[in-house]
Amino acid sequence: MLKGRHLIDSQDLTVRELKSIFDLTTEIINRPKDFSYICDGKILGTLFYEPSTRTKFSFEAAMLRLGGKILGFSEPGSSSVSKGENLPDTLRTVGTYADIIALRHPKEGAPRYGAMYSPVPIINAGDGGHQHPTQTLADIYTILQVKERLDNLTIGLCGDLKFGRTVHSLIKAMTRYDNVKLVLISPKELKVPENIKIEVLESKGIEYLEVEKLEDVIDILDVLYMTRVQKERFFNEADYIRLKDSYILDLKKLEPAKEDLAILHPLPRVNEIKMEVDDDKRAYYFQQVKNGMYVRMALIIKLLGVD
Ligand code: CP
Repeated sequence: MLKGRHLIDSQDLTVRELKSIFDLTTEIINRPKDFSYICDGKILGTLFYEPSTRTKFSFEAAMLRLGGKILGFSEPGSSSVSKGENLPDTLRTVGTYADIIALRHPKEGAPRYGAMYSPVPIINAGDGGHQHPTQTLADIYTILQVKERLDNLTIGLCGDLKFGRTVHSLIKAMTRYDNVKLVLISPKELKVPENIKIEVLESKGIEYLEVEKLEDVIDILDVLYMTRVQKERFFNEADYIRLKDSYILDLKKLEPAKEDLAILHPLPRVNEIKMEVDDDKRAYYFQQVKNGMYVRMALIIKLLGVD
């Protein structure tokens, strides 16, 4: 039962619960009209303490397409946060107006902390460099749609694996499927944090490889998950400038890749995928965007228990 629960970490959902969300997502895609009024009378709060295009608008579009309503802010300075109101008080307050809240915050752990005070379900819409579980729903659903399986996959994660919260969530979720091999492609300064390697990969005996050059491994990948270098998490601009263009995927680099490679990216992209790749049949990142809205529709239905 997902009704009334928070979603803070991608491992909060079991493989079985993920499947139930994905099955509902497919139903919504196939029969959208049947879900047009299912959230009539319900309100989603979107509290975004950090900028967003996809996550905020897809949550809002999801609730509107389910017949519900939305309220919230995209800039905490426009709320009483600017007067010093703390997160628990903001959530207690918005939780009296809304039935469910999507929260994005720059501080790692803020959604988990906030959930202790919220009277309604909290969905982590991205907390610092930590986790982004609903992006993972979009990522995994897209992999399932394209590859028709979630096991027996070699997945390359490329770019900023240190600060990239979508990467951390995806690693945690994908390691529950059989025979998933991870190829971690990053500059040495932006490697996957040690705690994730030890607690998530090594403790479960997950096969993984760390490399610096995408060209060395692109031919073995079933999925290539590109990410941008997370400028906003750097302490030193010079380091960002030095590392920001570490990987730029173009058609030339794709030549040795498998014909059925799936190229994903949580977006926004900056420079790491050239626009010429967008028309390649292996580019699925805009399909991933669309799936992001549908999986959030399914998640809202499940957490509100209106199905
Ligand atoms: N993928 C993602 O989180 O994008 P936004 O930052 O635009 O929400």
